[in-house]
Amino acid sequence: MKTYNIGVLPGDGTGPEVVAEALKALKAISDAEGIEFHLTRYDIGGERYLAKGDLLPDSVLSELRAMDASLLGAIGHPGVRPGILETEILLKMRFELDLYINLRPVVLLPGVYTPLKDKGPEDIDFVVVRENTEGLYAGSGGFLRKGTAGEVAVQESVNTRKGVERCIRYAFEYCRRRNRQKKLTLCGKTNVLTYAWNLWERVYYEVAKEYPDVKTDYAHVDAICMWMVKNPEFFDVIVTDNMFGDVITDLGAMIQGGMGIAAGGNINPDPGQTAIFEPIGGSAPKYAGTNRINPLAAICSVQMMLEFLGEATAAGVLLDAVKKVIRDDMKSMDAGRMGHGTREVGDLVVKYILEP
Ligand code: IPM
Ligand code: MN
Repeated sequence: MKTYNIGVLPGDGTGPEVVAEALKALKAISDAEGIEFHLTRYDIGGERYLAKGDLLPDSVLSELRAMDASLLGAIGHPGVRPGILETEILLKMRFELDLYINLRPVVLLPGVYTPLKDKGPEDIDFVVVRENTEGLYAGSGGFLRKGTAGEVAVQESVNTRKGVERCIRYAFEYCRRRNRQKKLTLCGKTNVLTYAWNLWERVYYEVAKEYPDVKTDYAHVDAICMWMVKNPEFFDVIVTDNMFGDVITDLGAMIQGGMGIAAGGNINPDPGQTAIFEPIGGSAPKYAGTNRINPLAAICSVQMMLEFLGEATAAGVLLDAVKKVIRDDMKSMDAGRMGHGTREVGDLVVKYILEP
């Protein structure tokens, strides 16, 4: 039997609850498809930091590096000052494991409510490829005369030829493989950020020559925000930098039905490398322990993980189960309004996996 080593990081807040449901779905897939998953759990997160004082030990990082893939619940704790867990856990994992792609599908599944008027599943079906290791997130910059009236704060966007090229190349490959509109939109700001986006633009059109079957397209990030609301059907695959990708994927999450359903993957697509999949919603502390949070984002993260592992059939079975539970059982994607509890939604997904 095929066996995969999977790291499990339930994390904080509602993370453990949604990961529990995701693992139930994974177990059902294992039974239905005859694939074995060997799970290793790590208690990384705010709780551990407050209890033991450590964040992401090197030993954990090297074990994660050796995993076929990992599943993360959420990192974020009301008792920890903002910035610590984000930089020392989330960003550290992305950077140290060189997970240079943040893949975020924006897909409206049938039956899910979208706030966009007159738009349906046939209109909202695209994927954002967000660069995940550079840009404004690189942590380059500093203060001058900190704490004085003349203080200066500089935050630089770092864009390397290698980092930009590998991201753009992945996006072209992905767009070709996805085989829908075969259109790759570069989302930038060439009119104002004339160094960074000049590099992105040059590399984009250079790499495009190798993909004559993929249509090229460029739009400024502000216009992209407008089109995502007005004409989301324009988009097939969007490639962008770390900061713009962060912003437009929250907008994307809202038009696909909210954080309850939005999944993503931090991926190193190079051979033999690893990836970490996560619901993009965060730890939602106010819902923790109430059985009200939507587990589908975490379950869809498992679906993305299966695709990354090359288990397309299993991923399809899981997606069909998710579609069924949305169609037949759920009232809403929003926490507390689903018509079922967190565990019950998980149970239904399991049921539909085992009896399609
Ligand atoms: C995300 C999050 C993170 C980011 C934060 C928590 C560091 O917003 O995954 O989109 O900005 O990348
Ligand atoms: Mn974000």
